[in-house]
Amino acid sequence: PGSDPRLPLKLVIAAPRGFCAGVDRAIEIVERALQKFGAPVYVRHEIVHNRYVVDSLKAKGAIFVEELDEVPDDAPVVFSAHGVPKTVPAEAERRNMLYVDATCPLVSKVHRQAERQIEKGQHILFIGHAGHPEVVGTMGQVPAGQITLVETVEDVANLRFTAEDDLSYLSQTTLSVDDTHDIIFALKERFPQIVAPKAEDICYATSNRQAAVKQIAPSCDLVLVIGAPNSSNSLRLVEVAERMGTDARLIQRAEEIDPSWLEGIGTVGLTAGASAPEKLVREVVDRLSDWRVVEEDIVTTAEENMIFKLPRQLTE
Ligand code: F3S
Repeated sequence: PGSDPRLPLKLVIAAPRGFCAGVDRAIEIVERALQKFGAPVYVRHEIVHNRYVVDSLKAKGAIFVEELDEVPDDAPVVFSAHGVPKTVPAEAERRNMLYVDATCPLVSKVHRQAERQIEKGQHILFIGHAGHPEVVGTMGQVPAGQITLVETVEDVANLRFTAEDDLSYLSQTTLSVDDTHDIIFALKERFPQIVAPKAEDICYATSNRQAAVKQIAPSCDLVLVIGAPNSSNSLRLVEVAERMGTDARLIQRAEEIDPSWLEGIGTVGLTAGASAPEKLVREVVDRLSDWRVVEEDIVTTAEENMIFKLPRQLTE
């Protein structure tokens, strides 16, 4: 046999990567709802931000819509993992609809904290990205005017509060750990009286995936992140790699990889956002193997064994 003309490529695969417990649970909720109620089951917003997942559920009979008014009164509807403003379940109840809430329990925890902070008379400074469904959902837990979005350190300087105001802060669960620390630092500097949440709101999956990328990026020439452009935690993984000085690209599927990206490259890092299935990781390994002799190396920086209970509606 002749020697393999393909050049070797070291592929450093980050662990943990891909599905978190909240995403696992949300997908299972839609699948179980389809079994229990029969198709179609409506889902308000992409159940998780991943086209492959959404398409697979569509094939099983799920119908994805953006708003509740697109759902008939007599059809079951699931709310996505990102959470919803209070007006959404209220409207579903008013219309007597059958709904299942797939909000990640770690997002629900932030919702409950928001309610408690308002009960204590605090104004909430909410750290997050405008327009993301989780931000819309969390801000919609409390009366408008009692919560203010803070996106950057610069925003902190422009806030019209004083060191006498009753303030507290919370954050979106899928932010950059480092950026959020900077914003919190700035908040505490300007408002020393500000009340912190009981525990950090950035979730375990987000921080573990970022820590894993930090570990692998320095030894890589390029980092590939599998995730959707609207997936907050996936975008943050690209930023983490770039801040370590390593080129990084967000891809949704293996077919987007251009062979020219590998020219002159010896080591590629690979990870996946919390909404990206492991199947898509294998797809990338296979595609890279078409061009190069891939030598896989898995770098594990944390073990995860989180599991969230399903809503009782679907287990009884
Ligand atoms: Fe929940 Fe974090 Fe996943 S908030 S949905 S565990 S990324």
